Amino acid sequence: MIGRLNHVAIAVPDIAVAARQYSEVLGAIVSPPSDLPEHGVRVVFVELGNTKIELLEPLSPASPLAGFLENNVSGGIHHVCYEVADIRAARDRLKQGGARVLGDGEPKTGAHGKPVLFLHPKDFSGTLIELEQV
Ligand code: CO
Repeated sequence: MIGRLNHVAIAVPDIAVAARQYSEVLGAIVSPPSDLPEHGVRVVFVELGNTKIELLEPLSPASPLAGFLENNVSGGIHHVCYEVADIRAARDRLKQGGARVLGDGEPKTGAHGKPVLFLHPKDFSGTLIELEQV
């Protein structure tokens, strides 16, 4: 059901510092920052040949990401995103299997303008999973 790895997201306390590190130290192609108020985050994309890294900074202390950074003060891997062809069909199949979908269960528009859903990390080896319909 899941397809390619779309991206790995890393929560960072300072996105300007992290973006500079990826561009200058690691020599990667890095996008300008963009704000996603619906998700409470500022995001920078690092373009790799086979996938992307998404650097995420909370937009406010109320962001769900802020709590993650309280427990991981220097940042850390926040989620992985897998591609699916039909996000509602994937959701229904996962729910039938007992997996928990976060939020109200309806897909939201993600960082790439496509529908996304998140799955509870306790159901998947302690990893927050994002599904993106491509
Ligand atoms: Co993501």
